[in-house]
Amino acid sequence: MRKKVIAGNWKMNMLPNETINFIDEFSKLVKNSENEIILCVPFIDLFYALLHVQGTNIKIGAQNMHWEEKGAFTGEVSGNMLKSIGVEYVIIGHSERRAYFGETDEIVNKKIKSALKYGLKPIVCIGETLEQREDGKAVEIIKAQIQFALKDLDKKMMDDVIIAYEPIWAIGTGKTATSEDANNTIKAIREEISKIYGQNVAQRVIIQYGGSVKSTNSHELFSMSDIDGGLVGGASLNAEEFSKIANYK
Ligand code: 13P
Repeated sequence: MRKKVIAGNWKMNMLPNETINFIDEFSKLVKNSENEIILCVPFIDLFYALLHVQGTNIKIGAQNMHWEEKGAFTGEVSGNMLKSIGVEYVIIGHSERRAYFGETDEIVNKKIKSALKYGLKPIVCIGETLEQREDGKAVEIIKAQIQFALKDLDKKMMDDVIIAYEPIWAIGTGKTATSEDANNTIKAIREEISKIYGQNVAQRVIIQYGGSVKSTNSHELFSMSDIDGGLVGGASLNAEEFSKIANYK
């Protein structure tokens, strides 16, 4: 049985004092959860978050990283730096980074390889636009994104990779894919992974759904056969609301 992995993506929200208050409240609410719970916080909050989750069942992730270890890359943060302070996860290739910051499939692939090299677990985001979906190209696009993202990764590396299927039209819009739809697309992603790495890897890999996940729809989504949890944006900014999602049973 695959574990449910429920991650919050705070995006560019929350100051350090808000992070500390959130964790103090949230950690009490989710202490009995059997799911893997991750908070992906802004860079400036990482250190505070790491200190405050000590002794809790909450893990900490970043939202981006550079693929090089160090050097003249003003404003960037490397996987090695993240690992050095105790970060465990890192979101790679979020659609907002692809759309607003020019991240290509090639960059996404480099970042994934670098994350793994430094012992971070990448949460790799893929998903189609509304136009691609309406053209009936969603699955084709997603399969291509998977092939690019995972290029040169071996089977062993796949143990540390999480995939997040986030249809772009469902992000921050209040529109979610129906559970059946999301499940079918995630099945297609698993099939593609099976073609590359075989059934064992495909059955083990965690594939989350993301896009307007709320406490009112999370139970139905997470109960589907192939949906292994969620990557949650807006609803992860409120401790009580996110705890209802993270406490999924
Ligand atoms: P929302 O949950 O706010 O739609 O955001 C989803 C997302 O982009 C998570 O990475």
